[in-house]
Amino acid sequence: MDYHNKLVLAPMVRVGTLPFRLLAAEYGADITYGEEIIDHRLVKCERRLNEILGTIDFVAKGTKEVVFRTCRAERNMVVFQMGTADAIRALSAAQIVCKDVAAVDINMGCPKSFSLSGGMGAALLSKPELIHDILTTLRRNLDTTITCKIRLLASSQETVELARRIEKTGVSALAVHGRKVKDRPRDPANWNEIADVVASLSIPVIANGDVFEYEDFGRMKDATGASSVMVARGALWNTSIFSAKGKLPWDTVKKEYVRKCILWDNDIKSTKYTVKEMIIHHSCLELAEGKAVNKSDTYMDLAKLYGEEDYYHFITMNRP
Ligand SMILES: Cc1cc2nc3c(=O)[nH]c(=O)nc-3n(C[C@H](O)[C@H](O)[C@H](O)COP(=O)(O)O)c2cc1C
Repeated sequence: MDYHNKLVLAPMVRVGTLPFRLLAAEYGADITYGEEIIDHRLVKCERRLNEILGTIDFVAKGTKEVVFRTCRAERNMVVFQMGTADAIRALSAAQIVCKDVAAVDINMGCPKSFSLSGGMGAALLSKPELIHDILTTLRRNLDTTITCKIRLLASSQETVELARRIEKTGVSALAVHGRKVKDRPRDPANWNEIADVVASLSIPVIANGDVFEYEDFGRMKDATGASSVMVARGALWNTSIFSAKGKLPWDTVKKEYVRKCILWDNDIKSTKYTVKEMIIHHSCLELAEGKAVNKSDTYMDLAKLYGEEDYYHFITMNRP
């Protein structure tokens, strides 16, 4: 996979499922990360071809729960992001999906207590031996692009040291979120410290943090020297941020997202979460629209709310 000059959709739990990734790609994203999925969940999945939707589903054995859904159209751009604290389990999990995705990425930045208590996410940042073990195990045993995503450490020097160790494992690229574990999302991302990492590595660095307009992709690339730039919240609030032609109205993007969720039969909880995040940013959940989204239990409810009943009927009636 080529990591030069790419616009990258960041991993986002509950948001980065198939419809959202395809929407981002349609607007201009070159690489699209899926939401983080924990290795424990993936190892319990089996791969199934979903002939009705034309997708490849990874379904928890003995259940109907779709843990990860992808399709051929995104094969060369989708990155499967995994949460792990164990090299062998990470390998077993990666083996299940690696043929159907462009790359496997290890999350080393999540500061949530759920991740930290399992020794995953940002907990890995203080365990360089374990990082080495996980990444070299994946690199040696898989014929797949392997990458990882980190946050900044306490000092720029420590981040650079860790990044150099990661580079030695043979990963293809490193994504750096320009915040420290203790930083809140509203704290500004530190582009200078990302630049320090870029200056010390030969592999491509994907810079992440505080891209809110299309122009910010270029600004961040220039300021950090990074090969590519990744955006999370800017894409959640208006996915058309990837379009060089400028953003579309968020209402238009939201409706297109809902249509894609109907088309790909997305998990309704993920759809509602994502639509609500859009509404919180641009409007208010307490108004009629937000309340109606909250109350929606089915795609028919959402289709009615957004005037997409005809589309809903057309899609569902034409399924084989
Ligand atoms: C809703 C949401 C979910 C996220 N989930 C993940 C995740 O699954 N894996 C990950 O590495 N980072 C996750 N992040 C962090 C983003 O990928 C990104 O690093 C961070 O938001 C900074 O980028 P931004 O300033 O463009 O938002 C998430 C962020 C948001 C807003």
